[in-house]
Amino acid sequence: MSRFGPRRYLGRSGVVSGATAVVVLLSACNTTTATTVVPANTPSSVSAAAVAGDRYLDPQAPVDERVADLLGRMSLDEKLGQMTLVEKGSISPDQVAEYHIGAVLSGGGGSPRPNTPLAWREMVGAYQTAALSTRLGIPMLYGVDAIHGHNNLRDAVIFPHNVGLGATGDPELVEAIGRATAIETAATGIRWTYSPVLAVPQDVRWGRTYEAFGEDPELVSLLGAAMVRGLQGENLTADTSVLATPKHFVGDGGTAWGTSTSAGYQIDQGVTLAPETDLRANHLPPYEAAFEAGALSVMASYSSWENGKVHGDRFLLTEVLRGDLSFGGFVVSDWAAVDQVLPGDYYGSVVQSINAGIDLVMVPSEFELFLTALGGAVEQGDITQARVDEAVGRILDVKIRMGLFESPMPPEDLINQIGSSEHRELARQAVAESAVLLKTSPGLLPIDKDSTDTLLLAGTAANDIGIQSGGWTISWQGSSGEITEGTTIYEALTAASGADIVFDRFGRFDSFTTLDGSPLVAPIGIAVVGERPYAEGRGDSGSLALSETDVEVIRRIRSRVDQLIVVLITGRPLILGEEFADVDAIVVAWLPGSEGTGIVDVLSGLQAFGGRLPYTWPKSIDSVGSIRSDPCDGATYPVGYGLSTDGLALDDTNACEVGQ
Ligand code: BGC
Ligand code: BGC
Repeated sequence: MSRFGPRRYLGRSGVVSGATAVVVLLSACNTTTATTVVPANTPSSVSAAAVAGDRYLDPQAPVDERVADLLGRMSLDEKLGQMTLVEKGSISPDQVAEYHIGAVLSGGGGSPRPNTPLAWREMVGAYQTAALSTRLGIPMLYGVDAIHGHNNLRDAVIFPHNVGLGATGDPELVEAIGRATAIETAATGIRWTYSPVLAVPQDVRWGRTYEAFGEDPELVSLLGAAMVRGLQGENLTADTSVLATPKHFVGDGGTAWGTSTSAGYQIDQGVTLAPETDLRANHLPPYEAAFEAGALSVMASYSSWENGKVHGDRFLLTEVLRGDLSFGGFVVSDWAAVDQVLPGDYYGSVVQSINAGIDLVMVPSEFELFLTALGGAVEQGDITQARVDEAVGRILDVKIRMGLFESPMPPEDLINQIGSSEHRELARQAVAESAVLLKTSPGLLPIDKDSTDTLLLAGTAANDIGIQSGGWTISWQGSSGEITEGTTIYEALTAASGADIVFDRFGRFDSFTTLDGSPLVAPIGIAVVGERPYAEGRGDSGSLALSETDVEVIRRIRSRVDQLIVVLITGRPLILGEEFADVDAIVVAWLPGSEGTGIVDVLSGLQAFGGRLPYTWPKSIDSVGSIRSDPCDGATYPVGYGLSTDGLALDDTNACEVGQ
C-alpha cells in the first residue's frame, strides 16, 4: 500500500467500501438456487428462462439480486471476459463468444466498410449475437467516441466541438445535442459513448482543448451534466439512451507543458502538478455534477498526478471516486493506458490498475495477453476474487440498468434519424450560438447584402468540411476534404447571399479579371483561416500561431477590400499576430462541424452574435499556461468576452487592452 502514499482526508464519512458491498452480493447469491439451465437468446426464450427461475433474466427482480444471481453462475473465465474491452479491428464475433468478452469498441475512425448506418448496425449486431450465444447469454456493451455527434459515421450530423458549446453557455442546447447524438448513435446499435470530456484545461497549448467546454469548472459542470442528461435521456432502458462516460478522471486538463510521458507529445498524457486542494476545487466538480446527472461509467485519465499514473492510483480511483463522490458505476481504462502504469511490466501494470479501481480494461488489441495477465494475477492472489466480483458486478449492474438483457439487439427503425434535417437544424443553431465576435468596426456587421454586390472570400478553411469539423471526425485525427456530408461556409454564403462571391482558397485574386480590366476589389472580404485537424497529443502546440499560408491569405485579401472580416476555425485561442492589426472584424467560429450555415447566419444578421469566450485569449505564447491573478493577466481578451453584432460588449466584460 505504501506506493500510494499516506492516507488522505476523505470529504465524506460513512461510505461503504466496495469490498463490503461485494460480500453482501456474494452472500445473496449463495441463497439463490444455482440452476444449470442454459438461457437461450431470443427475447421469448429469455422470459421463459426467467419463469423457470433464472433470476438474473427476470426484469421484475431488483437489479442487485439479478447481479448477484448472475455472478453466482459465472466461471472465473467468464468474469475476466466481462472486464475486457477490445477494439473491433482486433477481435471477431466468434472470439467475443469464445473469450466471453464483455465489451467491444470502435476507436477513432473504427468504422466498418462501407461506412454506412446499415453496415454499423450489422457489425454491432454480429458482435451482440455472438455474445448472446454464450452459455449465460450476457450481452456485450459496444462503445464509441461520439463526442460531437456520431462522428465516426459518415453523413451523421457533426455538431460543434465542445469548445463551441462552451461559448454558447447554453445547457438546454447542449442537452438537445446530447439527445440528437444519442439517437444517431443508438440507431446503429451503439448504446455507450466515451463522452463528455470534463477536462478543465488550464493551458490551451493542449491538443484536447477543443474537446472540453472551457477553463471554468462551473461552466464545465453545467454543460457536462447537460450533455449527460441528453445522451442518456430520461430512461436508461430506452433504445435511444446512450450511456455517457465522463472523462478523463481526473486532472487531464491540468497537465504541465513538457511533462508528457508519451513520445512526441508535450502536454497530453502529462503530469498534473496541481496540489490536492486545486485538483478538488478545479478538476473534480464537473464529475460530481455528471454523476448527479446519472452517469454510470467514467474513464480514467492517461495523465499522472502525485502518485504516478492515474490508472494506478487507488487514492483517486477508489477513495476519491467511490468514497468522496459516491460513484456507483464502473471505471473504464483509456486506450492501452493500463500498459503505461509500470512501463515494461505489463503484469504489474494490470495488477496495480485493477487494484486501484479500474473495472473494465480498454486493452484495446492484445486481449489474450491481457486475459493471461489478469487470470494469472487472480491465481497468484495479486488480485482477489472479491475485487474481480466487485468489478464484474459493477459492469453487470450497468448492463442490467440499461435494459441490455431485455433488448440487446440494434433497433430496426431509427436509421432514418441519422443526418436528419431536424438534427442539422439543431447543429446550425448551435454553430450560430457558438460564434464569438472579438472585434468589429462600427456598422460592418451584419453584412448588408444589398450594398455589397461583390464579396471576396479566401482561406483554406472556407470550403472544407473536414477542416471545419476538426479532429475526431470520420478518422481519429480528422482530415481536410469532403470527408462527410455538410455545408461549408463558402456553400452557405453562396446560398444566402445575393452578392457575387469570388472565392479563392489562397486569396490569389490576380487571376480574376473584371469587365473593364481593373483589379478586382470589393467593399467586404472574408478570410476563413485557422487550424488544421488534429487530435490528442498530436495537437499539442508550442506556438498557437496561424500558418504562413494563412497569414499570406490575410495579407492578400486585405489589399483588395475596404473592410476585412476574419473567421477563425480553431480548436482554441490562437496568438493574433501583426496581420490582425488591420482586420476590421474577428469572428471565432471554433470547430463548427458539418453545418457551416450557422456562421453565415450570424454574419448576415439572421442570428445575433451571443457567444462568449470559454477560454482566456492570450496575448502571447509566453503568457499561456501561467497562473493568472487577474482575468487580463497576459490576455488580449478575458474569459467570458464577446461582442454583440453591433459591437457592444456582452455582459459588460471588456477587452483587456484599449483598441483591441
Ligand atoms: C485510435 C483512437 C485512439 C488512439 C490512441 C488510435 O489508433 O483510433 O481511438 O484514441 O489510437 O492513441
Ligand atoms: C482517448 C480517449 C478515447 C479512446 C478511444 C484514447 O486515446 O484518450 O478519449 O475515448 O482513445 O478512442
